[in-house]
Amino acid sequence: MSSRGVRSLEQLPADVRDALPDPEPTPPPAGFSVRVARPFIADGAKERVAKAIEDGLVSSATSVVEELEEELCRVYGVPFAKACSSGYSALVLALRLANIGEGQDVLVPSLTMVAVLNAVLGVKATPVFVDCESGELNPSVEKYAEKLTRNTAALIVTHTYGVPADCVALQNFCRSRNIVFIEDIAEAIGTECCEKLVGTFGDFACASLYANKAITAGDGGFVLSTRKDEVMKERADSYANHGFTKRYHFVHLEGCGNHKMSGLQAALVTPAVSQLPKVMDDRNRIAKRYRSELQSIPHLTPMPINKWGKDTPWVFGVLGDSKETRKRLRQALADEGYETRDYFLPLHLQPLYRTSAGPTVSLPNSEDMGRRGFYLPTFFGMTEEIIEGICKCLIETYKDFM
Ligand SMILES: Cc1ncc(COP(=O)(O)O)c(C=O)c1O
Repeated sequence: MSSRGVRSLEQLPADVRDALPDPEPTPPPAGFSVRVARPFIADGAKERVAKAIEDGLVSSATSVVEELEEELCRVYGVPFAKACSSGYSALVLALRLANIGEGQDVLVPSLTMVAVLNAVLGVKATPVFVDCESGELNPSVEKYAEKLTRNTAALIVTHTYGVPADCVALQNFCRSRNIVFIEDIAEAIGTECCEKLVGTFGDFACASLYANKAITAGDGGFVLSTRKDEVMKERADSYANHGFTKRYHFVHLEGCGNHKMSGLQAALVTPAVSQLPKVMDDRNRIAKRYRSELQSIPHLTPMPINKWGKDTPWVFGVLGDSKETRKRLRQALADEGYETRDYFLPLHLQPLYRTSAGPTVSLPNSEDMGRRGFYLPTFFGMTEEIIEGICKCLIETYKDFM
């Protein structure tokens, strides 16, 4: 058995067992009628995919992928973009491009998706978990500062659920300490902070293009960089493709995986990039409606609002007043056919990471969010009737048990 991770939940220390979420609600016999997410297929996407097929431009080594990278550079106003196979791949590539590896610490928010932890462990760096600010979904600069070590080489921020962290303060913090600033924008593609897109504050940004994200390639991802670096493209192309180099085809100097995006995936997502403002307007409409409908429930706290720009959450999250309340509300919604998801179980409590030896760190704000939070269906084109139905179910259920 490896030094990290446990084989069964019973082996976990008591604090982790206590934090574990309840099993997922039972779906209705006919299945969920409203899923938690639905893919956004942009105008023009079908035609572009059909054209890629007609032209035989289906692999990663095609102009279709380059066109996506050019479009990302244009929309984000950055000099470098690399399309890849997933958000996880984007994180690994960014960490490698930033030369992060063994013996170095990476500050990681605990309230996020496991891919962030896996990528840091994947490059053999050491994750140092950071708590979110009280009542917030992201760590503040102060929370990161508390966890600085002599070996801190990089800081990752995840703009959790599409609510931006304090990008300007974090940028200044990283610059003044010579720390690489990596923005994981998987949940915040199109989100703005101080009139700039998030992903343009860091040295690197990483995104997932999985089907539940604001825009999608089915699966996929991309890395952006604000750095002007002549050899970055060559290095990224090699890291994403088994370490092949242009000079000697079958000579591999470094161990690398396969992180490539296909031409078909690129064709599907490219038109969506310029349609992001439309997607964000719709997220704003959905959030406004949820906020206004749910304000009559005293013990249900809606997710924090963007303090530096338009309120465009990736998913609409709420906090119940206890874990038990969350369980009851999620089951009531499931009974009516609405799919929901718990907030993340914080990374520092993940069974994959913890030994059975006992607690490693206590991050009370993330633990509290992870225990009480869940999110509601949120997707482009969601009708007002669906939002009303969800809110009505929450209000009625609350009445029943308060
Ligand atoms: C913050 C964050 N990073 C990374 C990922 C991983 O993306 P993928 O599933 O494309 O590897 C996700 C996925 O939801 C995410 O939310």
